[in-house]
Amino acid sequence: MRAPYRIGLLGLGHVGGALARRLIEDGERVASAAGRPIVLDSIAVARPEGRTAPASLVPADALVKRPHLDAIVELIGGIDPALTYICSALQSGLEVITANKQLIAARGPALAQLGPLRFEASVASAIPIVETLAETLAADRINSLIGILNGTTNSILDAMAAGADYADALADAQRCGLAEADPSADVDAHDPAAKLAILGMLGFRRRIEPSQIERVGIRGLDQRQLVAARERGFVVKLIAAASMTGPGIEADVRPRLIPDDAPLARVAGAMNAISVDAAYAGTLVLQGPGAGPDAAASAVLADLIRAARGTPASAGALLASLADQPVATITPLGLQTPFPAVP
Ligand code: HSE
Repeated sequence: MRAPYRIGLLGLGHVGGALARRLIEDGERVASAAGRPIVLDSIAVARPEGRTAPASLVPADALVKRPHLDAIVELIGGIDPALTYICSALQSGLEVITANKQLIAARGPALAQLGPLRFEASVASAIPIVETLAETLAADRINSLIGILNGTTNSILDAMAAGADYADALADAQRCGLAEADPSADVDAHDPAAKLAILGMLGFRRRIEPSQIERVGIRGLDQRQLVAARERGFVVKLIAAASMTGPGIEADVRPRLIPDDAPLARVAGAMNAISVDAAYAGTLVLQGPGAGPDAAASAVLADLIRAARGTPASAGALLASLADQPVATITPLGLQTPFPAVP
């Protein structure tokens, strides 16, 4: 077996903890898949005082420059200081694996020019949509992407339609480790807009600025609207959708009314689903756990195994190829397309 692949972990929250458990408790299976052991060498956390950890705790700025490491896994989220740490790791010659959708959406193309960057966990957690777009459908032409890309809001909408109160439903999503550190990223739709920007860049091969995607979150929805929709045969879902329109892109994220016999209506709780309309492959629907510690850790581990095997970082290379493109013009989709918007 080849020499161990040594990693440093930035962040030991819900996802970092789940990843550490997999690496330690399932080490043999991981080594057999990767062709070499993957060793959790060191960890950086924001507040190390009195903290126990499954590897030595070191300061983050030192971790990202440790010469004996092969890769850094960034699971702290947000733009700063994650951006500084990732730049430093890539410039030190380390690979970077991240679940950070906000950072990849906003800075992915420039970052990926610095070195191998992998981010399967940044969109829809356990669903392998990043690799599917970058690798499996590399020679296809993607016409549109429609999906549910946020598990927190999907869970809250389900709970509210069943009679729960918004604040209680949000607190439940936070307890299960679904919500972002600042849950306004979920409920105000910044999170699914960032994920849609990443998918759009990979699918349409155009540079997308996530702040140009119109977003309407779920904060303004009231339980009576959800119950009334259900009585009329609809389920309210937060839909992220994008399509190519020749020179431009139409995209937005907003609550829409889904007929209750449509497949998207049955995507429940923390599940996500993405329908990809590809010119040659046809329509592919990928569905599965889109949030939660084990689901996200599973996608991070998939990237780690690819890195340890020496598989090229195709999605990162694709983003890097867009870095010098002008930003695409984005206009919102119609209020009736792909499904009626909640009035
Ligand atoms: N807060 C995110 C969600 C986590 O609820 O979908 C997974 O990206």
